[in-house]
Amino acid sequence: MSKLEDIVSLCKRRGFIFPGSDVYGGFAGTWDFGPLGVTLKKKIMDEWWKFFVEDREDIYGIDAAILMNPKTWEASGHTATFADPLVECKECKSRFRADKIANGINESVTTEEFLATHTKCPVCGKENWGPIRKFNMMFLTHVGAVLPDDDKEVAEKNIAYLRPETAQGIFTNYKNVVDTIYPDLPFGLAQQGKAFRNEISPRDFILRDRECSQMEIEYFVNPTTWEENFETMRKAQHEFLEDIIKLPKEKIHELEVPAEDRAHYSKRTIDFMFDYPNGEEELMGLAYRTDFDLSNIARESGKSMDYRDKVTNEVFIPHVIEPSIGVERLFLAVLSTAYHEDEINGEKRVVLKLPENLAPYKFCVSPLLKNKPELVEKAKEVYNILRKKYGNVTWDDSGNIGKRYRKQDEIGTPKCIVIDFETLDNDTVTIRDRDTTNQIRQNISEL
Ligand code: GAP
Repeated sequence: MSKLEDIVSLCKRRGFIFPGSDVYGGFAGTWDFGPLGVTLKKKIMDEWWKFFVEDREDIYGIDAAILMNPKTWEASGHTATFADPLVECKECKSRFRADKIANGINESVTTEEFLATHTKCPVCGKENWGPIRKFNMMFLTHVGAVLPDDDKEVAEKNIAYLRPETAQGIFTNYKNVVDTIYPDLPFGLAQQGKAFRNEISPRDFILRDRECSQMEIEYFVNPTTWEENFETMRKAQHEFLEDIIKLPKEKIHELEVPAEDRAHYSKRTIDFMFDYPNGEEELMGLAYRTDFDLSNIARESGKSMDYRDKVTNEVFIPHVIEPSIGVERLFLAVLSTAYHEDEINGEKRVVLKLPENLAPYKFCVSPLLKNKPELVEKAKEVYNILRKKYGNVTWDDSGNIGKRYRKQDEIGTPKCIVIDFETLDNDTVTIRDRDTTNQIRQNISEL
């Protein structure tokens, strides 16, 4: 099993992920994707979009604004309930999410229940706690011309939040979509985008961030059919994770979330847990959100969210099945699955065995020797042909060939193509396989 520190180190060394605001010493809970990281991230997101939107006839895409009318968060319940239990150590003033430092309690823990666990402060080791306080995780901002010396009333009128989930941008557009493209039920709306949560303790690299990206679908169904649709959606998630993203089946575990641990909007939730290097963690959730959101929007906005069935004329508010996955969590699942250390001819190497559809580069093209113009010219020719054909091809003429292979192994390039003197004679190149390190010769026209 790979170690998280090794993956963090590889990510920085090879330009996948850097700490956010690194140059200023970082900014907790934020991460920046470098040239290779953004390519891998985009490929993951594109595969999701293709699988769930482009290849299906019943799911449509949308892209809603991050800043939304604050009524959104009143209606959704986030203003009142999107809060974690915050506890402060009276000795060293460190603050923690109570349910993350004590065993056997959940997010709704009371002060008494927490004190009964006799948890010691992870920083100073003392046991002297203040009361549990509810900490709302939404980031608050002010929209419009609000000045620091404006009175509280003016400031409050202009409050907005950075969205804590992309889902509400979908729910608030349900009526627009129904009225413009008249989809038949069941149908889904999918969205990818940033979500923001003021996590009390961001941790485990990119697993718990203050700024993350979500990929969510709200799948609108006739309430009488929610169970079968839940089941179909559950199967589709496995298909995507296992067949498209190639995560090992045995690392994915379903957890039926008990009622007391479910989000306020859910009547049934299955968390898809994944075996990360630091242990099992939630990768994604599948929730039955009932008509909770649409009914609340109807009440708050005064607009009808009814759907009229075109065949039966039946009128109802659809119920919703929601698969929701964090891009960063999927990214780390992919990286930790791909990360391997092995030994080739007595030399240790790190190799990212990324699936071909996700690898940032499909091929690396190199001239055997950098100082032989005829090899460089031929290699450039091959490079340009492959770039035109495949797009994601890289060039490397640095160091010796062994060093180039090590570097390409570390960034997960499946094939390295080397142009040597034989190429000049017969148009064949050496192709070296990342995983086996085996080499074969092949004609350029067959690449
Ligand atoms: N719309 C439903 C929703 O947002 P959630 O369980 O709070 O549900 C869904 O989040 C997914 O978003 C999680 O399973 C996880 O993959 C990702 N996610 C949530 N909070 C995150 C965070 N702080 N950092 C990274 N990913 C996060």
